[in-house]
Amino acid sequence: MSENIKIAVVGSGYVGLVAAVCFAEMGHSVICVDNDERKVAALQAGDSLIHENYLPELLEKYRNTSVRFMTDLAEATRECEAIFIAVGTPQSEAGDADLSYVEAVACEIARSITSYKVIVEKSTVPVYTNEWVTRSMERNGVARHLFDVVSNPEFLREGTAVTDFLHPDRIVVGADSERAAAILTRIYLPLTTGDYYNRSGAIVGFHNVNQPPPLLLTSTKSAEIIKHASNAFLAMKISFINAVSNLCEATNANVEQVARGMGLDSRIGPRFLRPGIGYGGSCFPKDVAAFRSVAEQLGIDFSLLTEVEKINSQQKRRFLNKVRSALWTLRGKRLGVLGLAFKGETDDIRESPAIDVVEMLLAENCSIAAYDPAAARRTKEELPAGPNLCYVDDAYAAAKDADALLILTDWAEFANLDLNRLNQTLRYPIIIDGRNLYDPDIMVKHGFTYLSIGRAAAYPVRDVASLSSAS
Ligand code: UDX
Repeated sequence: MSENIKIAVVGSGYVGLVAAVCFAEMGHSVICVDNDERKVAALQAGDSLIHENYLPELLEKYRNTSVRFMTDLAEATRECEAIFIAVGTPQSEAGDADLSYVEAVACEIARSITSYKVIVEKSTVPVYTNEWVTRSMERNGVARHLFDVVSNPEFLREGTAVTDFLHPDRIVVGADSERAAAILTRIYLPLTTGDYYNRSGAIVGFHNVNQPPPLLLTSTKSAEIIKHASNAFLAMKISFINAVSNLCEATNANVEQVARGMGLDSRIGPRFLRPGIGYGGSCFPKDVAAFRSVAEQLGIDFSLLTEVEKINSQQKRRFLNKVRSALWTLRGKRLGVLGLAFKGETDDIRESPAIDVVEMLLAENCSIAAYDPAAARRTKEELPAGPNLCYVDDAYAAAKDADALLILTDWAEFANLDLNRLNQTLRYPIIIDGRNLYDPDIMVKHGFTYLSIGRAAAYPVRDVASLSSAS
């Protein structure tokens, strides 16, 4: 039988907030602590702060009952058996992870601890962080028998965070003490026994009662490395297919066919082989840099990761050149831009390749009308509207009288546009798709010049005729 465990989650960002409501959904009592009073007040009032499926519903269901929000870490420490640290680990100037928030939390826990606690690293942290947290607790006078530090990395993706949390491919628990491992095992029992999936109203996903997720017990250091290595590997997969897409363009092959052919090999798998304008977000760029930095500090040559980053940043410049190749010159061109978020179905713009491309185009003196279903508000704060940049309310407004339309984010709604209407709205029917959302044959049938990633440029018949008569 699953039991109710008292859990503190420190940090109410993507990982912390999602973990807090999902632990409540699993049947636990949660205190979510954040030192930002305004955030805590907003969460108490039911504002979920981020755009994430199921989050508003879960917040409504559990706020101020099974999930209490507060700023007082000391109280949370006293009340709870397990304390999950889910604070930010931003990239420092040198590329490694800045762990000062983690350290500050450890020191504060140390000041209030009176009975045994398991301290859980949920944030993505470099190997050896558990040792530093342990040392920090000891330096602050906490007796060793009063705590254990374990690593329980989180693999959720933005946009599908709640389902990813409740239907994980695996749960990794890195613990060097049996007592701590047992507590984490108990916390995840509703998922690992399948009990949760049997409940009425359970959030539906990949797992069911007969096929629950596995829990993998490892050493603490292995768990820390699993998280960094997984993100770096996925980033490598994306850079690999992006490099292959360039090869496809040079040879007139089709990267979608190549990715399908590769992905059917079960050793490779089809996921994370979508070519595009590069990866972004709050994790991949930061984690690849941090993992490379860990290797460097240990004297290990992991220059493969430098190449992964290099391909990723080149991909944006290649896209800019593609726009140039379609429009001849860029200065003064009016462009519609679809997508600002770093990927579809989120309002997150951190390290968004779409925004990098917009900035590159602005530097080339293009004028841009941009639309994103959720990320415009955040983008405006970073990149305010000006003489060459305006934000509009739908895809057709972005396309209005534009010399070309650029697709920069893979929002589902961008894959279902009314192509006839779009053709009528654009000044020239040119679409440059950085996310391969359309079939080139269909675009040509609708009269578009269509450029995408790793596939031959497609021109409507009259364009090809006029090009050849011009030559
Ligand atoms: C990622 C990891 O997937 C997740 O396990 C980890 O916990 C956090 O980091 P997230 O940043 O939410 O999740 O996004 P993800 O869906 O992985 O995409 C990351 C970036 O890669 C996006 O910019 C996306 O557009 C890009 N991407 C992804 C590709 O370009 N091609 C792909 O095939 C997949």
